Amino acid sequence: MPLKEGDIVHLIDRKGKKYQIMLKKGGSFFFHRGSVSHDDIIGLEEGSIVKSTRGEPLFVWRPTLSDFILKMRRGAQVIYPKDIGAILMLADIFPGARVLEAGTGSGALTLALLRAVGENGIVFSYENRSDFLEIAKQNIQTFFKHAAAGSEVGIGKLVLRQQDIYEGIAERNLDRIILDLPTPWRALKHVKASLRSGGILLCYLPTVLQVFKLAKRISKIGGFSITGIHELLMREWEISGISIRPAHRMVAHTGFIFVARRLAEEEN
Ligand SMILES: C[S@@+](CC[C@H](N)C(=O)[O-])C[C@H]1O[C@@H](n2cnc3c(N)ncnc32)[C@H](O)[C@@H]1O
Repeated sequence: MPLKEGDIVHLIDRKGKKYQIMLKKGGSFFFHRGSVSHDDIIGLEEGSIVKSTRGEPLFVWRPTLSDFILKMRRGAQVIYPKDIGAILMLADIFPGARVLEAGTGSGALTLALLRAVGENGIVFSYENRSDFLEIAKQNIQTFFKHAAAGSEVGIGKLVLRQQDIYEGIAERNLDRIILDLPTPWRALKHVKASLRSGGILLCYLPTVLQVFKLAKRISKIGGFSITGIHELLMREWEISGISIRPAHRMVAHTGFIFVARRLAEEEN
């Protein structure tokens, strides 16, 4: 589908630097190597190359979800795309699933969950800060309305709740619960009541002391089996002529992914 007014696109220069713009008739994009008129981009196919007024070539395409997350407005720290990919698999998010997450934060994980559960699924997202909830709402609307490839196929229903999850979870019979909170053990009693037998609880935790505390509390409360604790390191490589080597910098430690499954009542 050709690029149109209102679309969000990324312009990528020869060094790989990405610039995000929303296309507007009559608009212009300025950078250190000249400018590009939006009218020269509107109507092009994704993957086209445009030239700036100073002759600099720029690739043009719609951002992937991962590109968008790294550029979108942040309130709270987002989960990095490398971990989001693993979370979708380790929590086994499937089309039609009933998923709950907390906190919504900037909405990075929410975006990925909405795509993964598809049009028959539902995502309940709890966040206690109204300012973060507003940022997440804007990010989600912007992505699906202006940027996403494939959103016409259908995404899950979203229920945003401005609520402290430690005070309770209204939903029952959930397939999956994902907690990206500093003290998730404080929600365990509610998680236990709301997750169906066989359902998956996944917690994202920056430090190993949090992992230790969660494991201890889970054993104490009962009703769960810990199925895995994971950490992902992703190293980028660079290619320049015959020099092919790992990048000097990497996003090293982000968080631990802690997974447990809910046991049937009679096993408690
Ligand atoms: C690290 S951020 C979540 C980031 C989010 N997963 C993302 O990818 O954009 C943690 C969020 O949890 C929220 N939070 C902390 N305690 C909470 C609670 N008791 N109930 C609901 N939300 C809470 C914080 O306000 C913050 O926005």
